[in-house]
Amino acid sequence: MEERSEILKSDGLYHVYESGAEDGNVVALRGLHVTVYEGEAVAVIGPSGSGKSTLLKCLGGLMKPSAGGVELAGSRMTRLTGKELVDLRQKTVSFIFQDSNLLPHLNALDNVAQPLRHQGVLPREARAKAQELLDRLGMGERSRGMPEELSGGEQQRVAIARALITEPKLILADEPTGALDPITSREVLELFDTLHKEEDVAFFLVTHNRDVAAFCERSLELRDGRFVAQHGTDVDISDLSGSRELIIDDTGTVTLPPDILTQIGGPGRFEIPDIVRDSLNLERVSEERIDIDGKTELTLAATCPACFHDYGDSEEQLCPECGSSRPMV
Ligand SMILES: Nc1ncnc2c1ncn2[C@@H]1O[C@H](COP(=O)(O)OP(=O)(O)OP(=O)(O)O)[C@@H](O)[C@H]1O
Ligand SMILES: [Mg+2]
Repeated sequence: MEERSEILKSDGLYHVYESGAEDGNVVALRGLHVTVYEGEAVAVIGPSGSGKSTLLKCLGGLMKPSAGGVELAGSRMTRLTGKELVDLRQKTVSFIFQDSNLLPHLNALDNVAQPLRHQGVLPREARAKAQELLDRLGMGERSRGMPEELSGGEQQRVAIARALITEPKLILADEPTGALDPITSREVLELFDTLHKEEDVAFFLVTHNRDVAAFCERSLELRDGRFVAQHGTDVDISDLSGSRELIIDDTGTVTLPPDILTQIGGPGRFEIPDIVRDSLNLERVSEERIDIDGKTELTLAATCPACFHDYGDSEEQLCPECGSSRPMV
């Protein structure tokens, strides 16, 4: 098999948000290893607050992780000078944020053209390319609109055009279709698909959208700052249990997703009756089981604690309305 090079790699990534408040610091990322190969599309899925945006910002060099390093196209970002970092980012990676982050004083066309202008491309050429991209995203007619005059979905499409104009090798995107209606969302996804298949662009994107996750070759499931599992293209965001592969990292750490923890009867002590390569069999130490059976009879909550969505008979782990994770009660 042909050796693929890594476009993005990080080891032991930690991030702590320091807080003076009494409830203390928030550990948002707890030792994450990420590898994305050139031309690969990887999704990050996980409930609200699990650390997805924090991860994306650390990987893109927008925020310095508390520990661990990030390599972009073979260069370790923390070792670069400010100018080197800017150059590397400009020619390698583009971002699409959760909220579109357009420059408020520039119209749509100039927002899109601006990254090329930064690279020294002449205005006429940069604008022509910007217009072409806006056309492809169904925004050709709105190119003179100012950001404040555009709807959320339109702003997002401008942001996407802006991210694509430099022909990056890697796109980091935080909920790129979050603000879009289903039809536009599909159009954006088709454009991503073309870039991915025909131009070998790599994607690392955060999503709650099942089509977006299905577009990726694999999805990483993030919970409380740790990757708990990986899924293939058959991932079904509303029921992750069918495609889940648990991850044991280099340090031997495995984190069980909450629903699996419930299925095995909750926390406790486990014996390993026979150790064999490629397979691990855990058996609960029996006195513990009696104890736990008596104490905990957990079931999935009937309604979402955040938005009061009624789950009815469904076994979903994530609220389809607001994306919050479903607690056990
Ligand atoms: N600036 C900040 N200061 C302190 N804590 C923060 C800050 N930003 C995020 N956090 C906390 O870090 C954790 C991870 O937040 P993050 O924004 O990465 O989550 P997320 O997975 O992107 O969530 P969502 O799906 O809601 O966008 C959360 O507990 C959040 O409250
Ligand atoms: Mg986020």
